[in-house]
Amino acid sequence: MISLGISVGHDMGAVLIKDGEVLVGISEERITRVKSYGGYQHQMPEKSMRYCVESAGISFDDVDRFIYSTTELPDEYGEQFESITGVNRGRLEFMPHHLAHAFSTFYSSGFEDAAVLVVDASGSEIAPDSKANAWFPQKDPNELQENVRLAEAVTIYNFKKDSYEESYKKWIKLSTDGYKGGGVSVGIMYGTGALQLVYDPSNNSWQSGKLMGLASYADREFVDSFPDFIEILENDVFIPNGQVPSDGINYLSDFQSRANIAGIYQREQERLLMYFTKKASEVVDSQNICVAGGSFLNCNSNELIEKSDLFENKYYLPSSDDSGIPLGCAWFGQIVEGNLPTGKYLKPYLGREYSNQEAINDFFESDIPDIQFQEFVNWENLLDYVSQCLVENKVVGWFQGGSETGPRALGNRSILANPSSPWVERYINSEIKNREWYRPFAPSVLEEHRKEIFDLDCFSPYMLITTKVKEEWRGKIPGVTHIDHTSRYQSVTKEMNERYHSLISAFYEKTGIPLLLNTSFNGKGEPIVESPADAIKSFYVNNIHVLVINNIVITRR
Ligand SMILES: [Fe+2]
Repeated sequence: MISLGISVGHDMGAVLIKDGEVLVGISEERITRVKSYGGYQHQMPEKSMRYCVESAGISFDDVDRFIYSTTELPDEYGEQFESITGVNRGRLEFMPHHLAHAFSTFYSSGFEDAAVLVVDASGSEIAPDSKANAWFPQKDPNELQENVRLAEAVTIYNFKKDSYEESYKKWIKLSTDGYKGGGVSVGIMYGTGALQLVYDPSNNSWQSGKLMGLASYADREFVDSFPDFIEILENDVFIPNGQVPSDGINYLSDFQSRANIAGIYQREQERLLMYFTKKASEVVDSQNICVAGGSFLNCNSNELIEKSDLFENKYYLPSSDDSGIPLGCAWFGQIVEGNLPTGKYLKPYLGREYSNQEAINDFFESDIPDIQFQEFVNWENLLDYVSQCLVENKVVGWFQGGSETGPRALGNRSILANPSSPWVERYINSEIKNREWYRPFAPSVLEEHRKEIFDLDCFSPYMLITTKVKEEWRGKIPGVTHIDHTSRYQSVTKEMNERYHSLISAFYEKTGIPLLLNTSFNGKGEPIVESPADAIKSFYVNNIHVLVINNIVITRR
């Protein structure tokens, strides 16, 4: 039973599942090399779809179900689908956006039942000609004001072994002509803050991650005494449309004021996510919660959920943003005659592997002068060489196995460095990533040593939760300890990633430090590298000192 999940729109991609095993998945940006590729192109992710079937060694004819989702209108893709796949358009099925988020996280958690909480900017819409209308018969698009649509903002589902249902839904109104009635969503509020405070005109972007980094510099007293922006009502919340009031605050030229306003957005986001987590615990009877939607890439609010006792077990998906939609669609396609599939804990490395021969071919085709490669036959020798480079404060591009799903690199497409050196952190920020100085780097830690270093007792293999670094370690690992003494660690186990675990272990043997600085393998504004060719180019252009692809080491001559 093979299902292909497809998303259309920004961060679009495809995922293939066979008999409950996730075989392969990719985001279109990794192939087109344009970040978040797909928004308002009204094109199916053809490259991702082909990548999936080709990597699995099958053809589109072998796929039993094709499921897609999109938040964009118009949402009719039958003709394109037929011309890409050669399969009759009648076999292409649509599912709503929030339900796809829900399937993506529940079936990656391994839980038998759970409350599933979906929070993002906006999901599927009730509007004339929207395919989502059929899923929500109680909402009549003809009753809406002209130019106004209803969009999914927050949904809570009740998932059990053999059934699922929607237990709560918050809709918001969107419009094409400036209608400003009603409140906005959690994601729209946080995005408004990002646009206000961390807009980057060089590539016309406003990243939520930057706002989160900035918020760490906020003055606690200012944040705690600032009046509420969102209103928590009897049985709902109201999120005003527009910016947090900042009259008389000179935030554009004064860094501290800017950080303070960022702190307000962060505080309000945390209040909202805790409100909805509590709501999930009220409307669903389960000890488990799974979350998805872009709002759950916010590691500081995830920490609060993790610390709360509203649920015993919590699951956060690495592709919580819309890059996870095809995974949810593919899981939905695993329903056979009404019987739900069985999921298991997700290994995030959904990309295909590349052979040494492919890497060597790409090396020669790159035609870059003054670089050389060496193949290490013995893995221990390679570990010894690479860990020594790290000890000597060299920056290493680490390329192994299949690429990660979602925005975080988790040890297969990572740039690695010595966390004890503040100099290396500055080098990566200024030379490679060209990032703002206030954005922190995160560590990958050997799971067996994690409790010695971090406050929170939580297995966090996807780098999605922030916590305090223990006092005795703060001075030892300045490269991955943020201004507020926090860190967003990745737990690394042999079981999840054996090669990465062996490298951190080799570094630990030499230094007594069981962790490495880990940032995604890409230069500024680029998607994470996918192929050896991408990695070789990025290594060269971005002044990375050493590149490791499988057991091949590439250096400058
Ligand atoms: Fe979403």
